Amino acid sequence: MPTDPAANLPEYYSHRAPEYEAMWRRNDPVRQAEQAAIVGAMRTWFRGRRVLEVACGTGYWTQFLVPSAERVCGIDVSAQMLALARAKPLPPEKVTWLQADAYSLSAVPGQFDAGLANFWFSHVPRTRLGEFLAGFHRRIGAAAVVFMADNVFVPGLGGECVTVPGSQDTFKRRELADGSKHIVLKNYYDADRLRRILEPWSAALSVRVGQCFWWVQYQVRESP
Ligand SMILES: C[S@@+](CC[C@H](N)C(=O)[O-])C[C@H]1O[C@@H](n2cnc3c(N)ncnc32)[C@H](O)[C@@H]1O
Repeated sequence: MPTDPAANLPEYYSHRAPEYEAMWRRNDPVRQAEQAAIVGAMRTWFRGRRVLEVACGTGYWTQFLVPSAERVCGIDVSAQMLALARAKPLPPEKVTWLQADAYSLSAVPGQFDAGLANFWFSHVPRTRLGEFLAGFHRRIGAAAVVFMADNVFVPGLGGECVTVPGSQDTFKRRELADGSKHIVLKNYYDADRLRRILEPWSAALSVRVGQCFWWVQYQVRESP
């Protein structure tokens, strides 16, 4: 097992960038309804807020926030994902994009009172969850509001599960349209686990779990 089980994520997403957004257009009414619920909840939650969006990818969710948020700074490690985000016709006075690491958010300039991390939590190694949450919360500040969404485990979807001996993480085997093959760290959580992880960091925690996705909202409280 590599020292950092998530070390190949930037390379994987750089290969996946051109096909990434097709996932959000899947012709499945349950998925579409849950995606719409996520959009609706985010829009309300971030109204008038200065949002730091971690692992923003192609800016798919960013585009829905922009009308209600005061501004959004999207950061991602992949230049290819960010190139697609930058190509979106979003107002530059409200949206900025930056290549940065989710574990080094102190390097991101700006003032924030909200944080978004969609479809990122599943890619954080279990041993780094505390490090990620501490850095994320420190950067947006106590009393900031947070929204995160990610996948529920659905058998048969998202590639074959691969177990790596000695790892607490789960992995998926994936093949992309360009023929490249990857083993990708992808952890899944149920409502109880999410509550156990997030309760010490949060006030007013709300956890929603659908058939395809989970989403959480909370306010950051001082470090536990
Ligand atoms: C599943 S995608 C989510 C993209 C977007 N938030 C969405 O929901 O459509 C995961 C993203 O994490 C980014 N990523 C991987 N490692 C990262 C890191 N260390 N720091 C910041 N972004 C990272 C990838 O480039 C990719 O864009």
